[in-house]
Amino acid sequence: MEYKAVKLVKRPEINITADLFELVTLQTAELKDGEFLIKQTHMSLDPAMKGWMMPDTDSYILPVGLGEVMRSSGVGQVVESKNDRFPVDSTVVGMMGWTEYATSNGEGLQIVPEGVPADAVMCVLSLPGLTAYQGLMEMGKPKSGETLLVSGAAGSVGSLVGQIAKAEGLTVIGTAGTDEKCRWLEDELGFDKAINYKSEGLEAALAAATPNGVDVYFENTGGPVQHAAFDRMNAHGRIIVCGMISDYNTATPSAGPNWINIIRKRLTIQGFAMPDHWDKVPEMSGKLAHYLMSGQIKYRAHTLHGLESAIDGINLLFTGGNTGKLLVEL
Ligand SMILES: NC(=O)c1ccc[n+]([C@@H]2O[C@H](COP(=O)([O-])OP(=O)(O)OC[C@H]3O[C@@H](n4cnc5c(N)ncnc54)[C@H](OP(=O)(O)O)[C@@H]3O)[C@@H](O)[C@H]2O)c1
Repeated sequence: MEYKAVKLVKRPEINITADLFELVTLQTAELKDGEFLIKQTHMSLDPAMKGWMMPDTDSYILPVGLGEVMRSSGVGQVVESKNDRFPVDSTVVGMMGWTEYATSNGEGLQIVPEGVPADAVMCVLSLPGLTAYQGLMEMGKPKSGETLLVSGAAGSVGSLVGQIAKAEGLTVIGTAGTDEKCRWLEDELGFDKAINYKSEGLEAALAAATPNGVDVYFENTGGPVQHAAFDRMNAHGRIIVCGMISDYNTATPSAGPNWINIIRKRLTIQGFAMPDHWDKVPEMSGKLAHYLMSGQIKYRAHTLHGLESAIDGINLLFTGGNTGKLLVEL
């Protein structure tokens, strides 16, 4: 059977452009024992993909090779199987790539329990939720009554970080790039305050929103929020460095804050990458499912349609054009 896939054929200079990709038609091969064929239904687009396209071999994961199908996670249906653990009609989640069909031996894939909708898997129970939980709960060690600040708050990770922190009894402040996103955070998700970081007077707005300072700063973006946040940190505060999207499409990374406050305030600053923590996925998935089923977590998906839509669509992440977890429905 013929199917379409998108290969990475060139590395980005600065921005992700259409000429980096080639749309190809491939042919499914006969399955070997232990293999199964998946029809992918939902594909995740993530900021980390920019890093995976770069030639950097000194990161937490190797780059996608030129000529290879672009790497991504997704959800799909098993349509043919020679593997008893993954029978026909089961739903699976894991790394499949920018492709309509994928053949697998099961490595890195999990069965999605019956009745769990694909968008809940993509928006909460896979990378966004696991990242939010690992960074906030395992590394940020939040305590009820403390104040959390999260940048990129209306994004897929940020919106979950804020809601988990609310569920754990913290005061939650978020920054986002549009007034609509800020309204969603306050009116729908229950954030105590959301600040449009593109408006005038970010420092003053943040100071007004955090009269008791900030105990945990969850960093998704870098940029001006980072400097303002650093100045609001309380003694023994924790800064969790999850992402720096404002620097992903720049030739020269921005200068960070001066380190003197790390000593004066006795701060802990910790970066992390989810591939180091896959062993905790079953435990964290259970916790996320609990938040979801008890109504403490809401989510929204920003869904594009058709494989080719990934090529331009991925840039919505870098313009702030995505309103929710960016997905491609195939
Ligand atoms: N460490 C890990 O294992 C891990 C795992 C997953 C994700 N991450 C990181 O977490 C962050 C959020 O990822 P996500 O998947 O949840 O994406 P997302 O927040 O759903 O989408 C990206 C958002 O980033 C914001 N943004 C883009 N350019 C910006 C800039 N120059 N300055 C400030 N904000 C900017 C935009 O929102 P606005 O409209 O608000 O500007 C955009 O909507 C990223 O940095 C990503 O790399 C890390």
